[in-house]
Amino acid sequence: MSDCSGCASSNPDGSCASSSGCDNPDEKLQKTLGRIKHKIVVMSGKGGVGKSTVATNIAVALSLAGKKVGLLDVDVHGPSVPRLLSLKGEKPHMSEKHMEPVPWSKNLSAMSLGFLLEDERQAVIWRGPVKIGLIKQFVEDVMWGDLDYLIVDCPPGTGDEPLTTLQTLGPTAMGVIVTTPQGVAIDDVRRSLSFVGDVGNRVLGLVENMSGFACPDCGSVHNIFNTGGGEELAKEAGVQFLGRIPLDPEVAHSGDEGFPFMKIHRETATGEAMATIIAPMLNLPDPA
Ligand SMILES: Nc1ncnc2c1ncn2[C@@H]1O[C@H](COP(=O)(O)OP(=O)(O)O)[C@@H](O)[C@H]1O
Ligand SMILES: [Mg+2]
Ligand SMILES: [Zn+2]
Repeated sequence: MSDCSGCASSNPDGSCASSSGCDNPDEKLQKTLGRIKHKIVVMSGKGGVGKSTVATNIAVALSLAGKKVGLLDVDVHGPSVPRLLSLKGEKPHMSEKHMEPVPWSKNLSAMSLGFLLEDERQAVIWRGPVKIGLIKQFVEDVMWGDLDYLIVDCPPGTGDEPLTTLQTLGPTAMGVIVTTPQGVAIDDVRRSLSFVGDVGNRVLGLVENMSGFACPDCGSVHNIFNTGGGEELAKEAGVQFLGRIPLDPEVAHSGDEGFPFMKIHRETATGEAMATIIAPMLNLPDPA
């Protein structure tokens, strides 16, 4: 059934009958959102802290646990999901009004601007309003279908992308904030935390990434730098601390190769750490 069924201007088969585009975008958006149980937006104040890595591994792990998952990359300046899932060069199927997300497995499909650019080095200069329109379309015009989870990978900061994402997904969308143990990142995280609250959404929790070093020689995690900043901040801000992920050369390697860590290295200390972070998401109660 197409998304326009039930709309005043729909064809008997449920497709949109309007030639000038959907008359009722809000109704269409509400229909799309009504088919998605949980919406999780991964963000941080800073770049390079591992948002895309964390978002992708959350999506992969949930899908391997049997959940239906969509992964939406709204980092329009530096989309990384196509590479992280080895889907570079894939093109979504498109019809006049809809776009199908690119499947990674039976349970996981993804959408990213990276799938739509002819050349990944293509310089894209996006003005705010164009970005906002694109992100709305990525939610509304993509045939996500029935999803247990939509995971969104944001660019750093508190700009147009996370704002539009939260506003489009609505107040039930929850933020997951990624930080590193270092102080600078922590200050930025404070801003992300209050940003999510200001928009009217809830923070599901905080992840401290690159926390300690997963030693390839002995398999244990060595705390060579300070750790725990994220946990302290979570406590101070009254949000859940989801856990810490060590700096692990295999995480970087799996990202470069496009084989998500959680698919191939679940049994390691880092895999367990990621599983710990994902457990509260896996156990979210169904929306009323
Ligand atoms: N826990 C980790 N251990 C080792 N490398 C990591 C870890 N998390 C992320 N990385 C690496 O750090 C770089 C930045 O990660 P990325 O997920 O792209 O960050 P962001 O999306 O926040 O900019 C990538 O090369 C990635 O492979
Ligand atoms: Mg990223
Ligand atoms: Zn060691």
